[in-house]
Amino acid sequence: MSDTRPLVVIARVLLPAGRDPLAERFEVREGGLDATRGEVLKLVRGAEALVADPSVPVDAELLDAAGDQLRVVANFAVGHDNIDLAACAERDIAATNTPDVLTEATAELALALTLAAARKMSDAERDLREGRWRGWDPAAYRGLELRGATVGVVGLGRIGRRYAELVRGIGAEVVHTARSPKPDAERELGARMVELDELLESADVVSLHAPATPATQGMIGAHELELIGPGGVLVNTSRGPLVDEGALVAALSSGALGAAGLDVYEDEPEVPQGLLGAPRCVLLPHIGSATVKARDGMARTAAENVIAVLEGRKAPNPIA
Ligand code: 8YV
Repeated sequence: MSDTRPLVVIARVLLPAGRDPLAERFEVREGGLDATRGEVLKLVRGAEALVADPSVPVDAELLDAAGDQLRVVANFAVGHDNIDLAACAERDIAATNTPDVLTEATAELALALTLAAARKMSDAERDLREGRWRGWDPAAYRGLELRGATVGVVGLGRIGRRYAELVRGIGAEVVHTARSPKPDAERELGARMVELDELLESADVVSLHAPATPATQGMIGAHELELIGPGGVLVNTSRGPLVDEGALVAALSSGALGAAGLDVYEDEPEVPQGLLGAPRCVLLPHIGSATVKARDGMARTAAENVIAVLEGRKAPNPIA
């Protein structure tokens, strides 16, 4: 007998913490991790809810492929640059995300990348694994201590603010840029709001916590990397397109930039050869939110948003 319950399509996968409560109430179909665009376009037909993630572009074509009955797109992520919000609004489709539950995990990963890049851990580990460690050398791998350093936080939202608290705890000074002043956070963190160029010039570490938008695309290019300078560290756990990867490879190779720690890339999962070979560069495969607690929380939150809308209530996490 065919399932007559509302159809929820998960474009790729959702962890059991989110999938189970959905499957108790609705018919659920999942595309799988390797679902192609063509497969998702077919799978989505007839869905009343679509669960997507940052690797699934949710555009007019996909919304129309679903049909008029689609009521909610729940992103399994806090970032939502993969969703065409105007196209959702035109069709009266709610769009939701998963804030808060991944704040700690992502801020902690940014701290880990900061420490790893500041201490040149990727080069040190690579040398050891490849048999190039010739014994203790007082001049080798000398890096930066965070205590007393100035850390520039670009974007003092939830994750940027938590990261700022963590580095403050280690004894760093914080400067930040934000779209609007944040008096509470500034008071608590003793953080000074400055223009981007001043932040880049004054900070020893620059950590990006801004969303990917047309305004932030390529905001860190050759000029900005030069301002961070040969002793400076760039950390990116937000979105790849904020950084011009070609300029970053050039700055690392020439020594114009001290070090970098990256969790995100312009064209994931592609990582340019230049970056793979660049010195003083720690590279991770987009694992900012990859803790058990955060990923379960994200799955649960995505499901709660779907359930609320399909049961006629307001979504708890609408994308503003
Ligand atoms: C991952 C993220 O993209 O929430 C975000 O915006 O970038 C990360 O949490 C997410 O885990 C992939 O689904």
